[in-house]
Amino acid sequence: MTIGGTGARRLGTLRNVTDTTDQLEAIRAGYAFTGPAMQLGAAVSAGGQACPEAPVHLPLSVMNRHGLVAGATGTGKTKTLQLMAEQLSAGGVPVFLADIKGDLSGLAAPGVDNDTIQARAQDVGQHWQATGFPVEFFSLGGQGTGAPIRATITSFGPQLLAKVLNLNETQTSSLGLVFHYADQRGLALLDVKDLRSVVQYLASAEGKADLKELGGLSAATAGVILRQLIAFSDQGADAFFGEPEFDTSDLLRVVTDGEQAGWGVISCLELSAVQDRPKLFSTFLMWLLADLFHDLPEVGDIDKPKLVFFLDEAHLLFNGASTAFLESIEQTVRLIRSKGVGVFFVTQTPKDVPANVLAQLGNRVQHALRAFTPEDAKALKATVSTFPKSGYDLEELLTQLGTGEAVVTVLSERGAPTPVAWTRMRAPQSLMAPIEASAMQAAVDGSPLNGRYAEAIDRESAYEILAARVQGAGQEGRVQEVQEGSPAPEPAREPKRPPARQKEEPGMVQQVVGSTAFRSMMRSAGTVIGREITRSIFGTARRR
Ligand SMILES: Nc1ncnc2c1ncn2[C@@H]1O[C@H](COP(=O)(O)OP(=O)(O)OP(=O)(O)O)[C@@H](O)[C@H]1O
Ligand SMILES: [Mg+2]
Repeated sequence: MTIGGTGARRLGTLRNVTDTTDQLEAIRAGYAFTGPAMQLGAAVSAGGQACPEAPVHLPLSVMNRHGLVAGATGTGKTKTLQLMAEQLSAGGVPVFLADIKGDLSGLAAPGVDNDTIQARAQDVGQHWQATGFPVEFFSLGGQGTGAPIRATITSFGPQLLAKVLNLNETQTSSLGLVFHYADQRGLALLDVKDLRSVVQYLASAEGKADLKELGGLSAATAGVILRQLIAFSDQGADAFFGEPEFDTSDLLRVVTDGEQAGWGVISCLELSAVQDRPKLFSTFLMWLLADLFHDLPEVGDIDKPKLVFFLDEAHLLFNGASTAFLESIEQTVRLIRSKGVGVFFVTQTPKDVPANVLAQLGNRVQHALRAFTPEDAKALKATVSTFPKSGYDLEELLTQLGTGEAVVTVLSERGAPTPVAWTRMRAPQSLMAPIEASAMQAAVDGSPLNGRYAEAIDRESAYEILAARVQGAGQEGRVQEVQEGSPAPEPAREPKRPPARQKEEPGMVQQVVGSTAFRSMMRSAGTVIGREITRSIFGTARRR
């Protein structure tokens, strides 16, 4: 083994230089796994030279123990994610990743060979081969290139929605009551206008009795929520909510034929078009995870994960989040592990992640940190304190790491932390740049999934039912007369004003729920009338 090499530029990074051989030996032994493992790179000696004899691996069997990829801007986080996704895919593991800057679409095309790549490959002992991977592109609500991902409001649930709407705690619990009311009455909240119409109804004279029965929801708060929802629609939110709802099992696909048969499909959610709406996309990422959680069966110990989910710009999810929201994240992350799903948070410093979540992230790839400001220095110290003890002076090393280098510690196959290893990462084999817009569009056009999700549909739901009822106010029993199988009323774009008088009639919702049209709608919506929708940790709902 060559140790030291040229130049002593980084001799100071080890407390005791005579320990170097021991340390590299400890890394070599600590990362020698028997089962399938991902190759991250090679350990770096005190002299700054990569040692292919001491490779740094991550066992696939511990990827559901989650992880963190962190580092300052431009230090190599995205490339790390790219090379991890590549190896997971080739190992038959489906991957989900959020492509916020649009630079991950390159996964679909073979990389371009050059001297820098060759030098890195040689450094770390990588047999580099330009390779394109099976990628499916998604977009949020069709904004940008990719099959549109939408959620129904019912399934999205009150907690995530409250986060997007910036509601305070009182308003959040009030929104929870509105959902509870709709769930109990079997009113399907498919899109934003459905929710608006229910809130509007509750805030109206007709809804007064129901509002009172519900308890804890004031007409004033209902008014605030309504205004927020209107503003939300004005910002174009209608594109993201409604049907067809995305089926998260589509994230679990494996290629069935051709040269890449058996490879995991990489689902790339292209977010550059909604970059400026961080609350929206970060809550959607959480919805995907929560939805996967309720649909997937429990699995015992695994050889490899069912899916690895990379949550980029993770700090956006945690910023300003309520205690209840943070608890939900913590719980989802903790419980989804037993379903074989690994979640990797990608963010600038571990400080961005709440301690209770951080404690669950068993695998760590920490790229360089800056120490320009006192705030940086604090973050650096905090980061160092989250690593197991090692022979490195991490405070110094973390500020000196080169681009595409990281300090790594993972869990061994037995679940014990591996020795901390200064690692030079491998080079991605796919393109380290976005693919051409036309190539991306062609991929989307050719995808059967896009065919399934492309067109938004607007079925009869709470809005149409309430609107029809309102139109029919005074014509007693109109809603009941609607025949099963008759087409849904043409949805009006503007919500109707609440009916002027309806006092003598039985509760409007009872009437609506009793109608055959409503029952047939609920059947096709896949929910069961008369049975309250059950909500999961995040308040997201089961639909299937
Ligand atoms: N593993 C690697 N192999 C080859 N080049 C790399 C590697 N990691 C980083 N680089 C080089 O460093 C550049 C920056 O890396 P990357 O885009 O991954 O940084 P980042 O941490 O994601 O930055 P940002 O926070 O701005 O998104 C890349 O464009 C590439 O040239
Ligand atoms: Mg990046």
